[in-house]
Amino acid sequence: MRSALLCVFGIGALLASAANPTVHRRQDGIVSNDKFVQTQGSQFTLNGSRFRFVGTNAYWLQALNTDQDVVTTLTSIRKSGITVVRTWAFNDVDVIPSDNSTWFQLIANGTTTVNNGTNGLQKLDSIIRHAENLGIHLMLTLTNNWNPRPALDNLTASLQNLSATVDSSGLPRRDVTIGTNNSLPRNTLSNDYGGMDVYVRQFGLKNHDDFYTNETIISAFMNYTTSVVSRYRDSPAVLAWEIANDPRCNSSLAATATCNTTTVTSWIAKLANHIKNVDPNHLVTSGTQGFLCEGCTKSFPRAQTPRPSPAPGQVVAPPLTKRKLEQEWAERRKKRRAAARKASQAKSGMSIRGKWRAPETKRQENAGVTALNDGSQGVDSEDIINIPQIGFGTFQLFPDQNTYGPGDPTLSPFNNTVEIGIDWIKRQAAVSALFGKPISLSAFGLVTQENAPQFVPFNSTVAPFSNATGSGQNIQPYGVTDQQRDDAYAQWIQAGIEAGLQGIIQYQWGQVNLTGIPGTAIVPALNETGQSPVVNQTGVSPNDGYSIQGVGEVAVQGVLQQGQQAISSG
Ligand SMILES: *[C@@H]1O[C@H](CO)[C@@H](O)[C@H](O)[C@H]1NC(C)=O
Ligand SMILES: *[C@@H]1O[C@H](CO)[C@@H](O)[C@H](O)[C@H]1NC(C)=O
Ligand SMILES: *[C@@H]1O[C@H](CO)[C@@H](O)[C@H](O)[C@H]1NC(C)=O
Ligand SMILES: *[C@@H]1O[C@H](CO)[C@@H](O)[C@H](O)[C@H]1NC(C)=O
Ligand SMILES: *[C@@H]1O[C@H](CO)[C@@H](O)[C@H](O)[C@H]1NC(C)=O
Ligand SMILES: *[C@@H]1O[C@H](CO)[C@@H](O)[C@H](O)[C@H]1NC(C)=O
Ligand SMILES: *[C@@H]1O[C@H](CO)[C@@H](O)[C@H](O)[C@H]1NC(C)=O
Ligand SMILES: *[C@@H]1O[C@H](CO)[C@@H](O)[C@H](O)[C@H]1NC(C)=O
Ligand SMILES: *[C@@H]1O[C@H](CO)[C@@H](O)[C@H](O)[C@H]1NC(C)=O
Ligand SMILES: *[C@@H]1O[C@H](CO)[C@@H](O)[C@H](O)[C@H]1NC(C)=O
Ligand SMILES: *[C@@H]1O[C@H](CO)[C@@H](O)[C@H](O)[C@H]1NC(C)=O
Ligand SMILES: *[C@@H]1O[C@H](CO)[C@@H](O)[C@H](O)[C@H]1NC(C)=O
Repeated sequence: MRSALLCVFGIGALLASAANPTVHRRQDGIVSNDKFVQTQGSQFTLNGSRFRFVGTNAYWLQALNTDQDVVTTLTSIRKSGITVVRTWAFNDVDVIPSDNSTWFQLIANGTTTVNNGTNGLQKLDSIIRHAENLGIHLMLTLTNNWNPRPALDNLTASLQNLSATVDSSGLPRRDVTIGTNNSLPRNTLSNDYGGMDVYVRQFGLKNHDDFYTNETIISAFMNYTTSVVSRYRDSPAVLAWEIANDPRCNSSLAATATCNTTTVTSWIAKLANHIKNVDPNHLVTSGTQGFLCEGCTKSFPRAQTPRPSPAPGQVVAPPLTKRKLEQEWAERRKKRRAAARKASQAKSGMSIRGKWRAPETKRQENAGVTALNDGSQGVDSEDIINIPQIGFGTFQLFPDQNTYGPGDPTLSPFNNTVEIGIDWIKRQAAVSALFGKPISLSAFGLVTQENAPQFVPFNSTVAPFSNATGSGQNIQPYGVTDQQRDDAYAQWIQAGIEAGLQGIIQYQWGQVNLTGIPGTAIVPALNETGQSPVVNQTGVSPNDGYSIQGVGEVAVQGVLQQGQQAISSG
């Protein structure tokens, strides 16, 4: 009760301060308008103070059916003490939807057209305006690595006679496998807002990495970024431009053999430079998953001269190399094995609460760990964070979709997930310290049992565990319990604060009481009799498997709120 009241009071205070942006003369004599988030060494600053945050993701804000729904969502986020939201600032289509659904850019037959109408960039205008009013900062992502449309990507399949080729918006169907008949309304899934592969397909090319190398496509994407970035150049609500979500060499479209870390790093450098030219006010970040490659040749090598001394009170972690990390893992495993031997003498079989199933086999896991460190994804985050126009580093943590470290057989799968996540966080913090720039964990999440039927991996359009909740004998529920999720989130946030992360953004928010309209991404919830109600058609926000909307919602909000309090007071 009390904290809710304090938060409402806080909105008023923020509103007042947003109206009077201060112009500061910094110690170095540079006059800067501090209404924009900036960096100072490994920290963010805002209005002359340190700015450190726990935030949330809501990719679907632009797909909400009314302006009031944007207010409802941002207000409820703000009431949880959260002031940072990461959301999509792109929505590419290759055919203009026949309904009024949101689209920002038509990419068709080698030409692009930006939509600045009421169902176009004006949707984003409204999000920016309400964020400004509520003192919320937005991390705005400009494209996506993931937009699986295998019926189009697979030539054999596209030549087959499909019974229905368009969905309810008049757009080509998004079946991942012919016949799965994915009927989710457009923009329900986070990977259904267009992205790199729309450019590749519509410019008549076929490899994912053509997006990074073809001059015509680079020009088209730069033009899109100009349209959006120049529009909000002066808005204090923009925290940063994130060039892409999870850019890498491959996607559901394959990569050419020539794509390597140099390819992706050069592209990010080019775009960062372009965005900074259009908008010198805001920070730019890459949006990568955080993959590393110690052995890769660098385009932006670290200067051999010692870097400036850290800000007072700032801890500088020694560089955490892959070898060092492997040594740590080995030592820890050894200790645990000894402890387990001891314990097994004392107690017999332990039943593990929660039926979390490890998502991958051991062999796949080792392959995943290697891919994390060898540059095979085409991402070298050390090279990328050192690009001069990149203001800060980003990384993500999705244990249901990527492997971030080797499992320890003496630990439960869940405990492994938590610990490996903590190691990943520490390692990323070390990279940030090495380069003297802030770093943000820009998306992290775990799939719960309740969410398993909705969980669709980023490179897919089908929910692989949609049947896992069935009552069949061999069917094990997939996912962690709500309690395990809360536990993992709390431990990761804590570890992130201790390691020195400057931003920690959970994936993702869930919102009820939105305007539900059949056929849109916010469908009306069924009423008690399992029918679509005639009046009061409220719906919930889209869920790609990570939404906190549901029975555990309040608990997660509490974890985030506590995290925000801890990180901003630290
Ligand atoms: C689209 O919106 C316009 C104006 O808001 C409205 O008149 C029209 O009926 C809508 N069309 C559909 C298909 O919803
Ligand atoms: C793209 O070209 C195809 C084939 O020529 C045509 O059917 C389609 O209408 C074009 N799309 C747009 C949006 O112009
Ligand atoms: C949309 O773009 C056109 C052409 O650039 C411009 O004339 C118009 O003012 C823009 N409208 C809005 C609402 O931004
Ligand atoms: C392409 O689609 C066909 C027909 O559905 C299928 O047999 C084949 O395995 C698919 N190929 C790839 C690479 O997905
Ligand atoms: C780049 O894409 C354009 C447009 O499709 C194409 O005409 C051109 O040949 C491509 N360039 C290269 C080097 O492949
Ligand atoms: C990008 O914009 C420039 C300037 O308006 C234009 O000349 C160029 O053709 C555009 N690029 C593409 C691929 O449309
Ligand atoms: C990537 O490949 C190019 C040649 O295609 C090469 O010049 C470059 O050094 C490679 N980058 C790395 C990091 O190996
Ligand atoms: C998991 O970790 C918790 C402490 O965080 C510990 O109490 C529990 O015994 C561990 N379980 C297994 C199976 O490792
Ligand atoms: C999806 O991506 C993961 C990791 O990037 C990869 O292991 C998996 O094979 C991909 N699946 C498909 C269907 O592309
Ligand atoms: C899921 O359930 C449906 C209906 O019970 C069934 O037709 C389908 O084969 C099942 N899919 C899988 C992957 O088990
Ligand atoms: C949603 O609306 C219902 C009915 O008006 C109300 O009882 C409930 O408290 C609302 N929930 C939230 C989270 O706003
Ligand atoms: C549910 O919706 C149906 C169809 O609109 C309606 O006939 C029924 O009365 C509603 N039931 C409840 C409990 O609201």
